[in-house]
Amino acid sequence: TKWWKQSKNSSDLDAQVQEAAALLRENQVVAFPTETVYGLGADATEEAAVQRIFEAKGRPADNPLIVHVADEDQVSQLVSEIPPVAKKLMDEFWPGPLTLVLKSNGTAAENVTAGLSTIGIRMPDHPLALTLLRKTGRPLAAPSANRSGRPSPTAADHVYQDLDGRIAGILDGGSTGVGVESTVVDCTTEIPIILRPGGVTKEGLEKYLPIVMVDPALADEKQKPKSPGMKYTHYAPESPLWLVDGTDEFFVEQLHQLKGDGNRVGVIASDELAEKLDHLPLIRCGSRFQLDQVAEKLYGALREFKKSDVDLILCETFSEEGVGAAIMNRLNKAAVKKIQTC
Ligand code: TXA
Ligand code: MG
Repeated sequence: TKWWKQSKNSSDLDAQVQEAAALLRENQVVAFPTETVYGLGADATEEAAVQRIFEAKGRPADNPLIVHVADEDQVSQLVSEIPPVAKKLMDEFWPGPLTLVLKSNGTAAENVTAGLSTIGIRMPDHPLALTLLRKTGRPLAAPSANRSGRPSPTAADHVYQDLDGRIAGILDGGSTGVGVESTVVDCTTEIPIILRPGGVTKEGLEKYLPIVMVDPALADEKQKPKSPGMKYTHYAPESPLWLVDGTDEFFVEQLHQLKGDGNRVGVIASDELAEKLDHLPLIRCGSRFQLDQVAEKLYGALREFKKSDVDLILCETFSEEGVGAAIMNRLNKAAVKKIQTC
């Protein structure tokens, strides 16, 4: 696996992207940064290339991939129609952390859509990703560049930890900004439906859409999610994650008790909670009143604690407003247990 280290020098950058694009045109897979998380890219029109993504990640074949594009022409090449709602969202939010599910016209390789008649497409808001897309000249299928089940990578080093030896290369663009994945919105139904909460908030979408629904399965474990990927266990750190839902005082009590029972506990806490704790190891994930910061740091924090160091990880819960919906969706999926005040 070639790791093209982050460079500020424009001729170096140029050479890196050329090399990565050449590999992609030879049906190899290359990881690249986006504004949300690192993606693992392959030519979306080549079944053999896309197959390599599934193999490198250990991803179930029934989980479709998001296709990344550099311009709207590439969207038209992949879909049978662009409904007005989708056009509106593209104009308002692209490039950006929003994936639109549209009717596929069959141009993408069959394994990209995992046999569905629809296709998820987004234009990433990252200069390296856009340059890579343009130089490759193909739409790129790219799921998050982690081993299936692990937290998504928000730094090149995370990709390296998971996929060294399994992929052709990693384009290093430093840390990603948003930190959680894109919002997936189904635009094939009369009323658009949020299938996965993400970087673009429901409140943000509502500014431009008269009505938007949320897949009810997201709040009810017994229902089957409309997005295949949402049914899998995800984002699991090395040691079991427990969520504590309650006051800071309740958190302090629970931590005290777990330590008293002889557990080695790692804590992920907001700045506000951290001020009230006298405990190590502890990772701060920003202010609970600045959920953008929490989103940015979340996956890195989940990767920080190693099995050899802690028996379990204790993390607080956050407001579900704005990007908090995505944060809590990921934490609930990553956690094995939730402790609540009765
Ligand atoms: O921010 C992101 O979206 C990142 C970066 C790399 O762009 N990508 C990402 O991809 O998170 P992935 O594969 O980890 O998640 C894709 C999600 C899955 O939940 C999948 O089931 C859903 O999108 N999806 C893709 N195509 C779909 C379709 N046609 N219908 C419904 N859900 C779809
Ligand atoms: Mg993923």
